[in-house]
Amino acid sequence: MSMIDVKELKAYYTTEKYGRIYRVRAVDGVSFQVHKNEIYGIAGESGCGKSTLLKAISGLIKPPLEILEGEVIYNFDDQSLNILSLQEDKQRRKVRGIRLSHIPQGSMSVLNPVRRIRKSFQDLIDAHLKLENRTHLNDMNMVKKHLDALGLEWNVMHSFPHQLSGGMRQRITIALATILKPDIIFADEPTTALDVVVQRGVVQLIKKIKKEQQNTLIMVTHDLAIHANLCDRLAIMYAGKIVEEADVNLLFNQPKHPYTQMLLDSLPKLGDKSTRTSAPGTPPSLINVPPGCRFHPRCPEATERCRREIPELVEVEKGHRVACFLEEGSK
Ligand SMILES: Nc1ncnc2c1ncn2[C@@H]1O[C@H](COP(=O)(O)OP(=O)(O)O)[C@@H](O)[C@H]1O
Ligand SMILES: [Mg+2]
Repeated sequence: MSMIDVKELKAYYTTEKYGRIYRVRAVDGVSFQVHKNEIYGIAGESGCGKSTLLKAISGLIKPPLEILEGEVIYNFDDQSLNILSLQEDKQRRKVRGIRLSHIPQGSMSVLNPVRRIRKSFQDLIDAHLKLENRTHLNDMNMVKKHLDALGLEWNVMHSFPHQLSGGMRQRITIALATILKPDIIFADEPTTALDVVVQRGVVQLIKKIKKEQQNTLIMVTHDLAIHANLCDRLAIMYAGKIVEEADVNLLFNQPKHPYTQMLLDSLPKLGDKSTRTSAPGTPPSLINVPPGCRFHPRCPEATERCRREIPELVEVEKGHRVACFLEEGSK
């Protein structure tokens, strides 16, 4: 059963520079499904459209971002919702509070620097829980239980954000994002600003929550090691499109798209002392995308056809989708 169904989504930024209109084709025809209860990863170099995709599918759409085409359907147990058809902004916000939540990269956008941490929790609960007979004590008991379950000390509640380490602040941000037990969690580079050791703790924390609350999680990061550790399935994005998608083990063991292969090749391997060639070139500007396959200018295997035609994302074996003409030929 799919929890999120994304169909032919196009989300562009429209900007004006020196009197000319530019369209940034950040998400350009993307279709995928996220299953209930899974962790779905989205990877790709910086600038490939990962954050924009996350914004678009979670209904966080404001100018200059526009949805040009497509559908995003959520299938909750008790209702299906077409998020893009909801009236801006009130209805979306209502869904967002309880059903959906975001884990951002930094904590500073959600933790108020001049208020103690517990106030941020209280504000969130006040904003979204409309239960009768709510008391401050009950609310704080709920927070305490949640922190206990996450292995966080109650003491941090009395601190101001700046008194905590970056890692602790990120844990608190995650606790805050999950206290209302959202059905769907969207995480955008939640570990990127942290040291490697701290990252591991944060990944463990996310796993723990997911196991307890059985939420569906969409995880965006450029860091493939995090995906390898956390995700069930992984999509690789390049220049506004998904170029490959599979079960995470399959994708790491048998990458089929030359871009995926390039990303994996650039990872360091233990015991390998050769100088690794980093991925040559950079992703194209999304204002002027190359014709044909967007990866062709960097692809070692590009043919004439790749320069002209756009490869579709097709299933080449069960649960493995690839957008590359090489794969079409091998079938
Ligand atoms: N507010 C914005 N206005 C115009 N272009 C933007 C804006 N935000 C992002 N972009 C552009 O959209 C493209 C995709 O960006 P983004 O989704 O942030 O990629 P990623 O998260 O993979 O690094 C980039 O070319 C970026 O410059
Ligand atoms: Mg991003």
